[in-house]
Amino acid sequence: MDSATGAAARLALLDADTDVSVARRVYDEWAPTYDGEDVAALMGHRTAAHVADRVLALVRPDTEVLDAGCGTGLVGAELAVRGFRSIDGLDLSPGMLRRARRRGVYHDLGPADLRVSTPGASGKFGVLTCVGALAPGHLGPGALVGLVRVLRPGGFLVATVAEDAWMAGGYDRALGRLTADGYAEVVEDGADGDGPGRLLVLEAREVPGPGRSVIWIP
Ligand SMILES: C[S@@+](CC[C@H](N)C(=O)[O-])C[C@H]1O[C@@H](n2cnc3c(N)ncnc32)[C@H](O)[C@@H]1O
Repeated sequence: MDSATGAAARLALLDADTDVSVARRVYDEWAPTYDGEDVAALMGHRTAAHVADRVLALVRPDTEVLDAGCGTGLVGAELAVRGFRSIDGLDLSPGMLRRARRRGVYHDLGPADLRVSTPGASGKFGVLTCVGALAPGHLGPGALVGLVRVLRPGGFLVATVAEDAWMAGGYDRALGRLTADGYAEVVEDGADGDGPGRLLVLEAREVPGPGRSVIWIP
């Protein structure tokens, strides 16, 4: 089995009904060979370099970044090349996190099931990146509000979503709710044809009342 076939077979194990324990095992087993495969092309989303370029166009490199679903650290590495120095990462898979740690570009790295919540102080980060993790069997649309919650008002979420998942996975509807409820404004929804899939850019808003810690009902 060549590596592309192997990667496709791993991704085929992940769909909307996949238990989080299966996703963790798939990525733990994949971690040693993951960087040798063009997973972005296979999943149909923009590359880590593309996302890092977009982040650099939005904010200064001294901005605090959280890389959600950081995997082996491809996004952190691209951000570091562009001068970013304060990058934290969260991921479900300890195997992927070990690879990310070896790169030496992340400050804090930790395990988290981002389907449940996004650990971290509310309103802390200036940017949150999420590349390849808003996908079937990974993070559903219900995770979006948790990701936005850790951004300070005026901070940016920069995320990839594959085109086929955008409508079928309900990300478009979740985005509508998020903006209608005042948590974020859409800077761009990525329908720019500037690469595969969507590049979603949201700007977090100040939320009045009890704050940004809300329960999201999809
Ligand atoms: C396709 S990989 C992308 C990794 C990295 N962002 C990149 O650009 O290469 C998806 C990542 O999402 C992580 N992931 C999947 N489900 C998750 C969950 N429920 N919570 C946190 N991370 C999750 C996986 O462990 C994996 O590292």
